[in-house]
Amino acid sequence: MAKSIAVLTSGGDAPGMNAAVRSVVRAAMFRGMKVIGVFRGYNGLLNKDVKELDLRSVSDCINRGGTILYTARSEEMKTPEGIEKAAKNCKELGVDGLVVIGGDGSFRGARKLSLAGIPCVGIPGTIDNDISCSEYTVGFDTAMNTAMEMVDKIRDTAQSHDRCSVVEVMGRRCGDIALQTGIACGATSILVPEIEFDIERDVISKIYEQKSTGKKHFIIVVAEGVGGVEDLAKYIEKRTGIETRATILGHVQRGGSPTLRDRVIATAMGADAVRLLEKGIGNRVIALKDGKTVDYDILEALEMERKFDEQLYQTAMEVSI
Ligand code: F6P
Repeated sequence: MAKSIAVLTSGGDAPGMNAAVRSVVRAAMFRGMKVIGVFRGYNGLLNKDVKELDLRSVSDCINRGGTILYTARSEEMKTPEGIEKAAKNCKELGVDGLVVIGGDGSFRGARKLSLAGIPCVGIPGTIDNDISCSEYTVGFDTAMNTAMEMVDKIRDTAQSHDRCSVVEVMGRRCGDIALQTGIACGATSILVPEIEFDIERDVISKIYEQKSTGKKHFIIVVAEGVGGVEDLAKYIEKRTGIETRATILGHVQRGGSPTLRDRVIATAMGADAVRLLEKGIGNRVIALKDGKTVDYDILEALEMERKFDEQLYQTAMEVSI
């Protein structure tokens, strides 16, 4: 039975991470457990950069973007020496279990650390929604809404100038932000890494077709994993004669106050992680399945295949004519 647990945020930050940390702290203290906050991801474990958290340490953070624990990507945790050191430090700090809020890379560390004797539970926290085992990752909803708001603004100026705007949204290996933002913003075309595309067929022809029915401004949403928005904008301008601008939304999508969905799911996942650790169960990752939280073995979770919503993509194509 875990009496003292630690919590860290790792990898790219995501809105809602604070809500997850808060939930871990409160659910653990509700059970009489001690909670140690680890700063800057696994680096904090390796350097013993930690602080005991109390109920008020997590006050006023549920509505804040970023992570009060800071975050980092740790190269050292990819080595056997790093894992050994982290496990040793956990033992020295009296940590009986660890909650890791992050993405796939962070879960790999959590798995190795579990095998080294420190039970770890992962919570999917990344704006990309790219954790195969989970329908949802904390931060995704906020990021999409931010992207939608930004593209709406770009649309205003594209409309005023009768221009085409090519907008890159985040998502290194995953087109979910692009797909949903593209739909919500009425994009003419959405390019994602999961679906093969042809620029002539899927961008240029669509612009021509829409132009022939009276449309004068166009939004093309491109996932980061596809990239090349500057070149694409130049190509569109050359092929269609329509003045075209490229915008990379970038890290603005990672910030901001989390949406209700992110706060609630983060809270549910945080408490679930504590319930597992309370029983001494580690090597698990919390996931959302059919709208409910569940947990999986980390290795099983990492080996699951991610499914892109092709039906929704098809719908996007059908309505962007
Ligand atoms: O994984 C989240 C993410 O925001 C990706 O969409 C993006 O590719 C990456 O992180 C950017 O990372 P960094 O903050 O290190 O530039």
